[in-house]
Amino acid sequence: MCGIVGYLGFSQAAPVLLSSLRCLEYRGYDSAGVAVIENGQLAVLKATGKLSNLEVLLAEQKPQSTIGIGHTRWATHGVPNNNNAHPHLDCTGTLAIVHNGIIENYQTLRSELTGRGHLFKSDTDTEVVAHLIEDQLKQTGDMLTSIRHAVSRLEGAYALGVVSQRFPETIYAVNHRYSLTVGLGDNESYLASDSVAVRQYTNRILRLEQSEIAEIGQGVVKLYSFDGIAVDRQPVVVDTSTGAFVIDKAGYKHFLLKEMHEQPTVMRQTLGKYLKHPNAPVDFSVGNASSIGSESCAVNLTAEDLSGVHRILVVACGTAYHAGLVGKYIIESLCGIPTEVEVASEMRGRDLLVNQHTLTIAVSQSGETADTLSAITEAASKGSLTLGITNRPDSHLCHITSNLIVTECGIEVSVAATKTFTAQCACFYLLALYIAERIGSVSPERLSQLKGELLAIPILQEQVLSRENEIKQKSLRHAGARDVVFVGRGVNYPIALEGALKLKELSYIHASGYAAGELKHGPIAVLDRDVPVISILVPGALYEKTLSNAQEARARNAQMIAVAVDGDDNAQKTFDTVLSIPPVDEFFSPLLTVIPLQLLSYFIADHLGRDVDQPRNLAKSVTVE
Ligand code: AGP
Repeated sequence: MCGIVGYLGFSQAAPVLLSSLRCLEYRGYDSAGVAVIENGQLAVLKATGKLSNLEVLLAEQKPQSTIGIGHTRWATHGVPNNNNAHPHLDCTGTLAIVHNGIIENYQTLRSELTGRGHLFKSDTDTEVVAHLIEDQLKQTGDMLTSIRHAVSRLEGAYALGVVSQRFPETIYAVNHRYSLTVGLGDNESYLASDSVAVRQYTNRILRLEQSEIAEIGQGVVKLYSFDGIAVDRQPVVVDTSTGAFVIDKAGYKHFLLKEMHEQPTVMRQTLGKYLKHPNAPVDFSVGNASSIGSESCAVNLTAEDLSGVHRILVVACGTAYHAGLVGKYIIESLCGIPTEVEVASEMRGRDLLVNQHTLTIAVSQSGETADTLSAITEAASKGSLTLGITNRPDSHLCHITSNLIVTECGIEVSVAATKTFTAQCACFYLLALYIAERIGSVSPERLSQLKGELLAIPILQEQVLSRENEIKQKSLRHAGARDVVFVGRGVNYPIALEGALKLKELSYIHASGYAAGELKHGPIAVLDRDVPVISILVPGALYEKTLSNAQEARARNAQMIAVAVDGDDNAQKTFDTVLSIPPVDEFFSPLLTVIPLQLLSYFIADHLGRDVDQPRNLAKSVTVE
């Protein structure tokens, strides 16, 4: 939520800020703004809506400055309008703040500051920080001391960027339970919430750790703790040559379409990194192909550690939660370890029943989702073993989990997760095989067979994607639906949930996912001609029962759609529309069945003229609880 950027050097700041903001627009697109120091005066330019609106404003105004900060907003406090857009100013109009996070005690601070005569211009929590610094600056004249004092009054999690025309050669940055990266070039410095924005300019980066303040000059940075003690940490040189972070549609109409098509490649990369061939062991002790930072990814759970694990708990949100549900099924089947999956935000405010016999797995594409980070932190504090699955080895999640698996997806630009979902599922298959190998819950022959089948999945995914045109044409028959019900059983129940989430976020058509057996217990009441049912129907132990559930829906006059395998005559007879996939073992089928549902959501949303890469009200990285 919200992205912060900064630039200080000898080039024009506005184009650099704009280009950095473009990399962060996934974090929110309610408004955007910059503050620059032009001829010794602070100048602020803001625009409601997408970054392109700010771009127009900057092109008109052409601010001349070599220092500035910028922001892209996902509204939390105050509606998305110009007043609430960042940067926010103090009463003197000489100091500007950009902020990511939530100041939980802002109402108390606002009343206190108003009582002292400060005038507030926005409804945001952010503005209190500008006024707090202003107060102290009046007394001390020293920015670092003033910022330290301000943060000592703040409750919550936040990252800040600060510029003042009184200090025109310095940008100040603060990180408290968020992520901020400083990039250092030759006499130039960059600041951003996500290192992707910085790495387009320099490979020398320094991450702010928790509760640190950075005093950023041209090509130099000094770090301080909140106590004012200097921190000695050198920048690291990262490899920017892999191209894993190239932000380019590559000829596709949308990033989303491109990212769906990348799934077989991503699957090959993720599987290939940890599993070389069917007879090799799963090996997580390899570095990051993405080379984002110094962190390396490893799972170091020995047979002894694993035999002490009595329970696995997966915490995640949204699509990552659905990957966790697939993971539960896989781990329980192969390892026999009871596995629960919890929506991370529901882990707050209750006593977590975890201990040293629990392995808690946090799944997060961004590695920055506040709910997920809080849940895993609390589990760790209770002695649980921890493991992170993420696409971002430079994220906060990697710093707080003892074991780490990185999905090799490259950057996912579209706000809706697609390739990272299938890659997260792939990691659960690999993890289950890894655990089974160590605890001996599956015979070596069966393990090799499963590994062989898993390694063959990318080819089958390619076959599904090659049917894109047929899927498009069949999907558009249902673009007028008022509501859509998705059903699946077993390992495909999470795919029903994920299918419904994708359709909702992309097309804004209401949709719900259910375990197919639950349909008759209530949801069947909503069915009529305008409420189609989409069933995921893959041959296996649950096939007959899923088919019966579909018949129940058919008897209520609903339009019937199935994701079914080639040659399934029952499906052809029962359903009005069949989105077919190549034959696949039920156990691995989620890696295939989700793809037609992603495509269906995309084509319907595009047909309805939705903003598929940046759906309304959403942000890709949800960094508030
Ligand atoms: C996915 O399409 C969503 N936009 C959203 O549900 C997302 O999966 C969720 O916010 C979790 O994000 P994370 O994986 O970065 O933690």
